[in-house]
Amino acid sequence: MRRSLALCYHLTAALLLLAFLHAPLAGAQPLPWQLCDSAAGNYTEGSAYQANIRALAGGLPRNASASPALFAKGAAGAAPDAVYALALCRGDTNASSCAACVAAAFRNAQQLCAFNRHATMFDDPCILRYSGQDFLANVTDNSGRFVAFNGNNVSAGAAAAAFDAASGRLVNATADYAAGDPTRRFGTGEEGYDATYPKIYSLAQCTPDMEAADCRSCLRDIIEKFTPQYFVGKPGGRVFGVRCNFRFETYSFFSGRPLLQLPDVLPPAPAPAPAAAEEERTRNRTGLILAITLPIVAALLLISTCVCFWRRRKSAERKPSVPLPSTNPDDIQSIDSLLLDLSTLRAATDNFAESNKLGEGGFGAVYKGVLSEGEEIAVKRLSQSSTQGIEELKTELVLVAKLQHKNLVRLLGVCLEGQEKLLVYEYMPNRSLDTVLFGTFHRRFLYESTSSSDRFLVVPLADAEKSRGLDWGKRLKIVNGVARGLQYLHEDSQLRIVHRDLKASNVLLDSDCNPKISDFGLAKLFGWDQSQAVTSHIAGT
Ligand SMILES: *[C@@H]1O[C@H](CO)[C@@H](O)[C@H](O)[C@H]1NC(C)=O
Ligand SMILES: *[C@@H]1O[C@H](CO)[C@@H](O)[C@H](O)[C@H]1NC(C)=O
Ligand SMILES: *[C@@H]1O[C@H](CO)[C@@H](O)[C@H](O)[C@H]1NC(C)=O
Ligand SMILES: *[C@@H]1O[C@H](CO)[C@@H](O)[C@H](O)[C@H]1NC(C)=O
Ligand SMILES: *[C@@H]1O[C@H](CO)[C@@H](O)[C@H](O)[C@H]1NC(C)=O
Ligand SMILES: *[C@@H]1O[C@H](CO)[C@@H](O)[C@H](O)[C@H]1NC(C)=O
Repeated sequence: MRRSLALCYHLTAALLLLAFLHAPLAGAQPLPWQLCDSAAGNYTEGSAYQANIRALAGGLPRNASASPALFAKGAAGAAPDAVYALALCRGDTNASSCAACVAAAFRNAQQLCAFNRHATMFDDPCILRYSGQDFLANVTDNSGRFVAFNGNNVSAGAAAAAFDAASGRLVNATADYAAGDPTRRFGTGEEGYDATYPKIYSLAQCTPDMEAADCRSCLRDIIEKFTPQYFVGKPGGRVFGVRCNFRFETYSFFSGRPLLQLPDVLPPAPAPAPAAAEEERTRNRTGLILAITLPIVAALLLISTCVCFWRRRKSAERKPSVPLPSTNPDDIQSIDSLLLDLSTLRAATDNFAESNKLGEGGFGAVYKGVLSEGEEIAVKRLSQSSTQGIEELKTELVLVAKLQHKNLVRLLGVCLEGQEKLLVYEYMPNRSLDTVLFGTFHRRFLYESTSSSDRFLVVPLADAEKSRGLDWGKRLKIVNGVARGLQYLHEDSQLRIVHRDLKASNVLLDSDCNPKISDFGLAKLFGWDQSQAVTSHIAGT
C-alpha cells in the first residue's frame, strides 16, 4: 500500500510540476543587470579607492532610505582616490527594502564588476552607480543605459499598431506625471486595453535633484530614442538610465494604486465575421468543457493508476526478488566500453563553440554536437571547478549507464582525458520543458557601444505561442512520462535513486514530446530494502 501511495505521489508531483509551470513567469532574466566599465580603470585590493567604495557602501543605503525621495548622492576620499556614488530607489518602495537593495547593489557591483572603478547596477527596486569621475552635478548625463524588452509580439498588423499607440500614450502621460511630481519625480500609470491585454501598466522616474524640464527631456530622449527601434509590437519594455528610467508591461509590476489612470482604450476591432464568432464560441465552450472535465480526468487517472499499481504490486510480491546490485569490476568495464576520445568530441562540438552551447547545468555547460556519422549528441562538460571527485563521477557514470528507461535520458559515452570530464547523452531536439513553456532563456546584446556603453537585452516572458503548442494531450503525456521515469528510478530499477533536483529544466523532450528525465548528478543511491532515508544536507531544489 505504501508503494501505491508512492506512485500517487509521483503522479501528483508531476502534475503539480506542470500546473505550477503553467503560471506566468515574470522577468525571466534575473536582475541585477550590471554595466561594468573596465576602460575607466581598475583599483586594486586594499587600495584607498576600495576603502572609499566601502565607506560609501556603509553610508549610502541609510541615506537613500532616510530621504523622502529615496535618493542619495555621496562622495568619499580625496583625489586621485575620490569615489562618487548615486543611489535611487523606486518611488513605490519602502525605506527598508530601499536600504537592503542599495546595500546589495554595492556588494553585487564589487563582485560582478570586480575592481572596476566605474560600475552601474540596475536592480529591483534600486539603481546604483559609483565612479572616480564626479558625475553627480551633471543631471543631463544619462549615459550607460540598459534597454530590455519582452521578446513576444503583441499580434500582427494593425492590432500591434493600435497597441503601440495605446502603450505610447500611457508611457508619455506617465512620464509627464513623473516630471510634474516636485518631490519624487515618480509616476505610475494604468490604462484599460482589450480582451487579450485587459490593462497596460507603466512607470517613469527621474532622480529628484532634477528640474521638471530636465526630467521631461531626459524621459523624452529615451522614449524617442528606443521605442521606435525596440518596442514596436512588444507587450513590454524598459529603459534603465541612472538619471531617468521608464517601463511598461501588460501585467502589474509596481506596488500601490497607479498614480495616473487613463481612460480605457478599446481599439476599433473589426466586427468578427459570423463564422469567426461561431468559432470563438466553440473555442470558449471547449475551454469550459476542458476546465470541467480535466480535473475529473486527472482524478480518475490518479485513482486508476493507483489501483492498477496496487494490483501489480500484489502480483509482484509473489515474484522472486531481483538480485542485489553489486559494485563489482563489471561496472568499471561498462565504463570502458563507453569511453570516447576528446578529439572526437572537440570535432563534434566545433571545439565547444559558444554557438553550440545548449545551456548551463548544475555541474557545467552542455553543448550540442554532431558525430562524423551524423548522430546528434549532447555533451555535458563538467566544470573543472566541480567538487565532484573522480570516484563520485564514476559512480554517476555507472548509475546512469545502468539506467535504461524510455523516460530517462540515455548516456551514450564518456570522456575522461586530462582535466576534461565529458558526458555524452542522446540529443533532445525539443530541449527542456522550461524552454518549451517559457521560450528560450537567452541574453542577447543587440548592440554595445564603448562610447555610451548602452546595452540591449531581450527578456522573453512566458512564450505564449510555444506553450500554446503544448496541448493538453501532450501535457498529459509529459506528466505520465515523468511519473513513470520517477517510478522507475525510485522502485523498479535495480538501484534506487532519489533524483533530488527534479525541475522543468531537467525534463527534456524528444521530437514526439516524450519526456526524459536528465541530470542524475545529485542522485543518491539507496539500499535495496530501504524505503526511507534521512539526509543531513539539502541538495538541489
Ligand atoms: C581592468 O581590468 C580588466 C580585467 O579585469 C582589463 O580587461 C582592463 O583592460 C583593465 N582596465 C584598465 C584600464 O587597465
Ligand atoms: C549620509 O548623510 C549624512 C548626513 O547628511 C552625511 O554626513 C554623510 O556623509 C552621508 N553619507 C554618505 C555615504 O554620503
Ligand atoms: C517593505 O516592503 C517589503 C517588500 O515589498 C515588505 O516585505 C516589507 O514588509 C515592507 N516593510 C515595511 C516596514 O513596510
Ligand atoms: C553633462 O553630460 C553630458 C552627457 O554626457 C555632456 O554632453 C555635457 O557636456 C556634460 N556637462 C557638463 C557641464 O559637464
Ligand atoms: C516577433 O517578431 C519578430 C519580427 O517579426 C520575430 O523575429 C520574432 O521571432 C517574433 N517573436 C516571437 C516570440 O514570435
Ligand atoms: C510619446 O512621446 C514621444 C516623444 O515625445 C513621441 O515621439 C511620441 O509620438 C508620443 N507617443 C504618443 C502615442 O503620443
